[in-house]
Amino acid sequence: MRKKIVAGNWKMFNNLNESVTLISELKQELANTEVNCKVVICPPFTSLETATTLLKDSVVEVGAQNMFYEDNGAYTAEISAGMLLSVGCKYVILGHSERRTIFGENDELINKKIKKALASGLIPIFCIGETLAEREGGVTEKVIETQVKKGLEGISEEDFKKIVIAYEPVWAIGTGKTATPAQAQEVHAYIRGLLTSLYSKEAADGTVIQYGGSVKPENAKELLSQADIDGALVGGACLKAKSFTEIIKCA
Ligand code: 13P
Repeated sequence: MRKKIVAGNWKMFNNLNESVTLISELKQELANTEVNCKVVICPPFTSLETATTLLKDSVVEVGAQNMFYEDNGAYTAEISAGMLLSVGCKYVILGHSERRTIFGENDELINKKIKKALASGLIPIFCIGETLAEREGGVTEKVIETQVKKGLEGISEEDFKKIVIAYEPVWAIGTGKTATPAQAQEVHAYIRGLLTSLYSKEAADGTVIQYGGSVKPENAKELLSQADIDGALVGGACLKAKSFTEIIKCA
């Protein structure tokens, strides 16, 4: 039985003071909430240590939004898996479409990062998704297949079982345009089928596949009730404690 994971990707929002405020508001909201899923927040690097300290005895776990695959070295501005672990991170988002499109990350680089995260004991939240042009061109499945196969290349079944996948159609990110529950379910089922052929039915059935892209309290319930949607990766709506908590309640 898969346990749903609701994760908040803060992106480049909230300085340290703002992070402290949002985390304390979230703790307050969750104090009166029955939580039946895993909850993760992914603040910017500069707030990670504070976040893990403030959330020490909370159900909320902490992840980073990116990392590099080397242990250390002359890689100006990069952050290693070991550095993330040293501030108490448990998860790391990898392959987000904003990293792919704005910062030129490709499948090979993402694959190296996923391998490093796994070898270090971090749980990768591996993001995949098609653009609007790709969807309209009828190549959604082809794009997903390539991202999944290249991203997971050389990863054993044992390691694969630790990975969380996030399907985020690029056209639904930050646009207010959500995939309909049926559209999302269709791709999630396709991904699970792909994972079955790459690994095994057991591994695929155990994999958490989150949906991301304009998830809000108003649409979360229906999305999260689809058979193959096992949680949400939330952007905009995680920046307010109330709306993030409403989404958590839907899971
Ligand atoms: P929005 O929820 O703002 O569309 O962002 C989704 C996302 O990119 C989460 O990683």
